[in-house]
Amino acid sequence: MTMLTNKVILVTGGSTGIGRATAKILAAEGATVAILDLQDAEGAETVEMIKEAGGNAEYHHVDVSDYLGVRASIAKIVGAHGKLDGAFNNAGIEGPTAKILDVAIEDWDRVIRVNLTGVFVCMKCEIEQMVKQDGGGSIVNTASAAGLIGIPGAASYNSAKHGVVGLTKTVALEYATKKIRVNAVCPGFIETPMLGRVTEASVKIRDQMIGAVPMRRVAAPSEIGEVAAWLMSDKSSYVTGVAMPVDGGWVAQ
Ligand SMILES: NC(=O)c1ccc[n+]([C@@H]2O[C@H](COP(=O)([O-])OP(=O)(O)OC[C@H]3O[C@@H](n4cnc5c(N)ncnc54)[C@H](O)[C@@H]3O)[C@@H](O)[C@H]2O)c1
Repeated sequence: MTMLTNKVILVTGGSTGIGRATAKILAAEGATVAILDLQDAEGAETVEMIKEAGGNAEYHHVDVSDYLGVRASIAKIVGAHGKLDGAFNNAGIEGPTAKILDVAIEDWDRVIRVNLTGVFVCMKCEIEQMVKQDGGGSIVNTASAAGLIGIPGAASYNSAKHGVVGLTKTVALEYATKKIRVNAVCPGFIETPMLGRVTEASVKIRDQMIGAVPMRRVAAPSEIGEVAAWLMSDKSSYVTGVAMPVDGGWVAQ
């Protein structure tokens, strides 16, 4: 039997990148996967890939920071499948690269709204359902290595990701006796469309990133997905409140 047989798991930001790779792994491990994203064509593509491989998946168009929208998507998922066992709250956007004096208030607000408020909103709706169904559940949030250390020039992204780590620990403590586990993965540099956008300005930025990583390479998105799938499974049954770096050793330095 596979690790996630009979589980129903939602993945935000599953249309591309880390979310897509994770959705494919979760489905291969037996889960029914619901993707919540804004990029409809890419979301449909992820669903198609999963179905072609023999898995179950569906797509929901929703902005993760829209409380009523997320609540309605979860109601649809539960209506169709009867429960929600897990959630990978992974949707996120990159922020501006600038020192604080040059960060526009609107950019700060946008990054905090998607990357931090989005995780708050999703967890609020997921936990409401998980408490109701009494079977518990496992939530994994995508923070970042940038949620564990300071990075000059990334004030809004860094603050949002530190917030995700704090939120993960707090909610893990609040629901530890209710069979709901909450953990975070903290990726380093992962080969996704987001990394492509951040490094497109110059090859030098990419080389500098790789040079900062003890393993001297970026990761494939599936290397985050494998960790997230394990955290979502009963194999990690005593793990909660953890913010796990998956970063080739970057923050260990
Ligand atoms: N790529 C990296 O190196 C890296 C490193 C650390 C953390 N992360 C984090 O990993 C997560 C996934 O990033 P990725 O690299 O796969 O990027 P990506 O841009 O490839 O994927 C992000 C996905 O989130 C979706 N999304 C964005 N805003 C949304 C919203 N408001 N509502 C619903 N969906 C929304 C996008 O449409 C996209 O499909 C993000 O939270 C990111 O901050 C990435």
